[in-house]
Amino acid sequence: MNEQIEQAVAAFRTLLTEQIARTDEMEKAPPPKDYKTANKIRIGMIDGDGIGPIIMREARRVLALLLAPQIKTGRVEMVDIEGLTIENRLATGKAIPADTLAAIRTCDVLLKGPTTTPKGGSMESANVAMRRELDLYANVRPVSVPAEGIDWAFFRENTEGEYVLGSRGIEIDGRLAMDFKVTTVAGTRRIARAAFEYARNNGKTNVAIVTKANIMKKTDGSFSAICHEIAKDYPEITAEDWYIDIMTANLVNEKIRSRFQVFLLPNLYGDIITDEAAQIQGGVGTAGSANIGDQYAMFEAIHGSAPRMIEEGIGEYASPESILRAAVMMLSHIGLMEESGQLADALHICSESERRVVVTGDRDGATCRAYADYLMETLANA
Ligand code: IPM
Ligand code: MG
Repeated sequence: MNEQIEQAVAAFRTLLTEQIARTDEMEKAPPPKDYKTANKIRIGMIDGDGIGPIIMREARRVLALLLAPQIKTGRVEMVDIEGLTIENRLATGKAIPADTLAAIRTCDVLLKGPTTTPKGGSMESANVAMRRELDLYANVRPVSVPAEGIDWAFFRENTEGEYVLGSRGIEIDGRLAMDFKVTTVAGTRRIARAAFEYARNNGKTNVAIVTKANIMKKTDGSFSAICHEIAKDYPEITAEDWYIDIMTANLVNEKIRSRFQVFLLPNLYGDIITDEAAQIQGGVGTAGSANIGDQYAMFEAIHGSAPRMIEEGIGEYASPESILRAAVMMLSHIGLMEESGQLADALHICSESERRVVVTGDRDGATCRAYADYLMETLANA
């Protein structure tokens, strides 16, 4: 056992050295890419697993229609990225196979279907690997229920916390397991800056900093302190501290939930609470998710690959709404505001105000294709 402890200590030393090197990189990061002045924007389309290829097939059709003028002039190019499948990942033993990652790096932004993450084992989640490889540090998830006055924006730190070393934990003697959680100053500053900038640019007056700093004293304690330091640059915005447990209760408390506006949180809490929030909006299938970095951005459905739907043979009944909401965010991120607004309006008509074709995720509802046809018809008639 002593030998195992020695090995663990050596492994821990490596982790510390690597993480310090990562903060060095963050501190000297180049300025963000400016899409407005770019001559050409390459959109990488990644199918993923399970229902991924089904919903992405419809997303391709919708984007091809919406971006037809830009595709024609060559300003925008849609590129298919192959190989990010669970079979290929297991075969190559890589969370993102090398040639797939190389193809991804030739793009500016990505629209990605859900990818399967095996439980246990050593295969890392493709999502987590992509967030790390492309340094997509801000996970932005908007949730709105207009009828209830709910308009939330979640800013989840996306590259650190429990995730960064999630596949690098330590086991001793089959009797003890330990994982690591990491908070860095540079990593927290940039997500806090993103949340407060969003609040300022969108007329929001309140940012809730959500942690468990009473228990996770070093990591969450530092996260909260750094967020408050950044908040000083935004005197018009109130920065409030909340603990994650009571915040999960607040979100189902109809008396107070609509007072919250922007949420700023470490990775794992953000993961959990955004599923709760999406459910309040109408289900995890209805929300979109943006993973934003300074050089790349990846947009995806908030839900998983739904292997059960494929096993039961009902994959064609999957809802494309979440991936299309992700596409709305992608279009506005690359500065195509008009097209983003058109798609958002069409989604609103098809899923809220008119609802002539309703997807339920089962045989009693419409198919993914039927919903997309309806949406494209709505776009064409707008
Ligand atoms: C999400 C997902 C991912 C996460 C999984 C698929 C790794 O739940 O994007 O919220 O935990 O971040
Ligand atoms: Mg999640």
